[in-house]
Amino acid sequence: MAEVQVSLGERSYTIHIGNEQLANFRTTNAHKLNKQLFIITNPTVSQYYLKPLLNVLTDHHVDFFEMRDGEQFKNLDSYAEIMDRLISKGYNRDCGIIALGGGVVGDLAGFVAATFQRGVDFYQIPTTLLSQVDSSVGGKTAVNHPHGKNLIGAFYQPKSVTIDIDCLQTLTERDFRSGLAEIVKYGIIYDADFFHWLEHHAAELKQQDPDALTYAIKRSCEIKADVVAKDEREKGLRALLNLGHTFGHAIEAATTYGEWTHGEAVSAGIIIASKLSEVTQRLSASDFRRIKELLTAFELPTRCPDMPWESWLEYMQRDKKVKDDQLHFVLPTAIGQADVVKDIEHTTVAAVITECC
Ligand SMILES: NC(=O)c1ccc[n+]([C@@H]2O[C@H](COP(=O)([O-])OP(=O)(O)OC[C@H]3O[C@@H](n4cnc5c(N)ncnc54)[C@H](O)[C@@H]3O)[C@@H](O)[C@H]2O)c1
Ligand SMILES: [Zn+2]
Repeated sequence: MAEVQVSLGERSYTIHIGNEQLANFRTTNAHKLNKQLFIITNPTVSQYYLKPLLNVLTDHHVDFFEMRDGEQFKNLDSYAEIMDRLISKGYNRDCGIIALGGGVVGDLAGFVAATFQRGVDFYQIPTTLLSQVDSSVGGKTAVNHPHGKNLIGAFYQPKSVTIDIDCLQTLTERDFRSGLAEIVKYGIIYDADFFHWLEHHAAELKQQDPDALTYAIKRSCEIKADVVAKDEREKGLRALLNLGHTFGHAIEAATTYGEWTHGEAVSAGIIIASKLSEVTQRLSASDFRRIKELLTAFELPTRCPDMPWESWLEYMQRDKKVKDDQLHFVLPTAIGQADVVKDIEHTTVAAVITECC
């Protein structure tokens, strides 16, 4: 069992990581757990994990809502349904909202918690690797709008994050790999030693060895916590967490839903960003090779889909990271280091993308 502290003054909280954490949820949250609790989950997750959670909350007044499974349901319709339920069931401002699921459930539940009665207590129980190392930490909550992902949301920190690595056993291999892409990202942007550790423990991680998993999740959460503590509202440093995402989002947007998972798209995006960095003399050829080899070891894609430059440009410009009409790119400058770069010619970007397809 491991713990990571997210230091944000009076909004600080603890991330609990280990086996059997679901069964420990009440113990680890004992001092602050609300009398009225409302669990948001989906049927895929609830079939395994709702009952074990309910079993430890018998002293509480608990209701739950199962949203439909899928990114397309992280929307205002699901949000409104949940609000109706909370209001009709008489939930008050002292209640707590629990997210039990992946990033989709977590983002929606967090936005519900941020806005119901102007904000109620929120607890994250992330059940996918991606949500355990990324979306459950840092307080970004959101729903999608037909015109784009995460266009409606709030910064809202949870009271705690409970990571039960046993939950990963039921995850599909593809969703598991998707989370590994974000773990590799942390090593590249922030921690050369961690990257080195990943290179030497790739096989154990792929086999979901509990010790290796706990360490990789803990180190990822520490890095995210550190970045968030220094730059909660993404004025600077936090932007580095978007490595590979501008290209990744273009891939996700241009392909039909489900063709590429988020982590797969990020993996291909990291390759494009790293190549762009190498071509513009910011990253050494050997560091590029190490990045590519690690992603390959995790069986993540290192080539992007063949799409016309106009599509790339359109989707990248739609990405909300574009500021003052200029494309900004997060580029690795060494293993463990990255920078935001804006003055790259479109022709250079187009050539690199072609090379990576
Ligand atoms: N808030 C943030 O900072 C942040 C960061 C990154 C991503 N996100 C968001 O996270 C979402 C993606 O999250 P995700 O990858 O977890 O996707 P997801 O929530 O859709 O989960 C992937 C699939 O796994 C299923 N699942 C979840 N836990 C399971 C388990 N233990 N066993 C079996 N199946 C399980 C889900 O039902 C779903 O079908 C996106 O909406 C993205 O925008 C948010
Ligand atoms: Zn991501």
